[in-house]
Amino acid sequence: MLAVHEDRIAAAVARLGSESAFEILARARELEAQGRRVVHMEIGEPDFDTPEHIKKAAIEALYDNHTHYTPSAGMPSLRETIAEYASRFRRLQPEWNAANVVISPGAKPIIWNILCSLLDPGDDFVYFDPAYPAYASCANYLQANVHAIPLLESRNWRMDLDELERHVSPKTKAVVINSPHNPTGGVLTKGDLERIAELAVKNDFVVIADEIYSRNMYLEGEYVSIAALPGMRERTIVVDGFSKAYAMTGWRLGYAIMPERLARTVTLFNNNTFSCVASFVQMAGIAALTGDDTPVVRMNEIFRQRRDRLVNGLNAIANVSCTLPEGAFYAFPNVSAITHDDRALAKFLLEEGGVACGGGSTFGAAGKGYLRFSYAASLEDIDWALESVAKTLPKFKG
Ligand SMILES: Cc1ncc(COP(=O)(O)O)c(C=O)c1O
Repeated sequence: MLAVHEDRIAAAVARLGSESAFEILARARELEAQGRRVVHMEIGEPDFDTPEHIKKAAIEALYDNHTHYTPSAGMPSLRETIAEYASRFRRLQPEWNAANVVISPGAKPIIWNILCSLLDPGDDFVYFDPAYPAYASCANYLQANVHAIPLLESRNWRMDLDELERHVSPKTKAVVINSPHNPTGGVLTKGDLERIAELAVKNDFVVIADEIYSRNMYLEGEYVSIAALPGMRERTIVVDGFSKAYAMTGWRLGYAIMPERLARTVTLFNNNTFSCVASFVQMAGIAALTGDDTPVVRMNEIFRQRRDRLVNGLNAIANVSCTLPEGAFYAFPNVSAITHDDRALAKFLLEEGGVACGGGSTFGAAGKGYLRFSYAASLEDIDWALESVAKTLPKFKG
């Protein structure tokens, strides 16, 4: 029998990244087990319960014996429901249909399967910095040629589009965008999207638009998706899911919408990895999209209050400044006047102050000197955390 020593692990594994929020969560839980109070602002998940009608639909689906395999792309009824919802929400003409939709256990695995479907070693892949870690992890694993475009605090964390223009060419295979954005809460404007679309058409690249926070917006007006801009329907892959909008992180249900030819390949990757998503979970997804939408609107209103409380509180602390996030549920304060070692500071705030947050540089080099706070915590917890941060920060010896 072979023992699994270090030398048995594939060398390619060294190219994988990871989401450090899960590591911080594990340490926070250890401290709680020792009796310490910890406010959780490290992990990107709504603290609300999944709305009742969605849970009920899943339970009914179980009793109706929706407990078997489904097609790898997902149940036709859920795919149709998503095509209809997503076309309406994004005002897309002509509308998508079920053949454009692929279901996955959360958005994260489908990001992996999309990149596996698109990237060969050496292909040019462009993303942004700071970013949700999954894109670069997968693209590096696939040995793509990876370029990161900085997001600018001075543009309220929108992409430096001149820099994007300098980095794309007809050799570029795919560009990923994420609006509203994790970890900063930045939202691309219609003008930004139009310029990215122009570059995509001119250079013939694919845009992967991670729109998982599209229901978590604090701006007036309708959501603008790059997929609905001229010439983009055939070159956009929209990634979305149920985790953030419907407080369904633990259900593991996400999807992507894309040109039919690519959907067939992404489905092949589904087939080779997880086979399909639990059928009663897919039934719950139909209930989420067709049922009462008020819980989503209500959760968002609460997020907005928390955002205002957190951002005002952070800006009142000496040497901390924070832009106002326009979407998602993250604040990304600048702490570079205190230290550039954001990871050490995040660790210190957890160990000394009982506030779990993330170091900005865990999202990329451009996040150095920032922290990420998820405001999926009650107003009372946010107040406690702000007081603790204000008391703990001056004790940090960076
Ligand atoms: C930008 C972004 N995309 C995708 C995901 C994946 O979410 P899930 O796999 O829970 O659907 C996340 C989760 O944090 C995210 O922040």
